[in-house]
Amino acid sequence: MGSTKSISSTYQEFEKPEELDRFDRELLYAARDIAMNAYAPYSNFRVGAAIRLSSGIIVTGANVENAAFPSGICAERSALSNSVSNHPDDNPIAIAIAAITEDGLTDDPVTPCGNCRQVIAEEESRTGKKIRIILAGKNKTLIIESIATLLPLQFNNRNLKVNLP
Ligand code: THU
Repeated sequence: MGSTKSISSTYQEFEKPEELDRFDRELLYAARDIAMNAYAPYSNFRVGAAIRLSSGIIVTGANVENAAFPSGICAERSALSNSVSNHPDDNPIAIAIAAITEDGLTDDPVTPCGNCRQVIAEEESRTGKKIRIILAGKNKTLIIESIATLLPLQFNNRNLKVNLP
């Protein structure tokens, strides 16, 4: 008979963005602002992501949809493509995510889709640094210390026995 293992995870929950430190709050507002630049005519679900690099630079991205649905890209991967392409030697320390509908910021925070979780995990592997994830909603804001919380037992370079440069 096998043995039962458990995976536990913790995260912080805040009622209002005002409770966050000023750097995280600034990132959250940047995510909210860039969501307005989303191209989301099919879902009307505008998502923004803002990444803080260790140099202090903030890089942003929004979702960009397509009539051929799979060709669209989420805000998180849009922002990460931007940061890796333009700042390859810098590393993300935090990413804030916010989604806007016709009622404004969503009541509950939106968490990254599975595809984006995998891409955020790759970025943690590439840089060897954890990326704090800040999820914004009207009712609450969540802070998660690493993608490992959202993607436990992840598949990564170690499974392929590849050492990243
Ligand atoms: N979307 C994101 O950009 N990020 C998420 O975390 C969830 C979903 C986008 C994809 C699509 O353009 C729209 O939201 C509806 O799924």
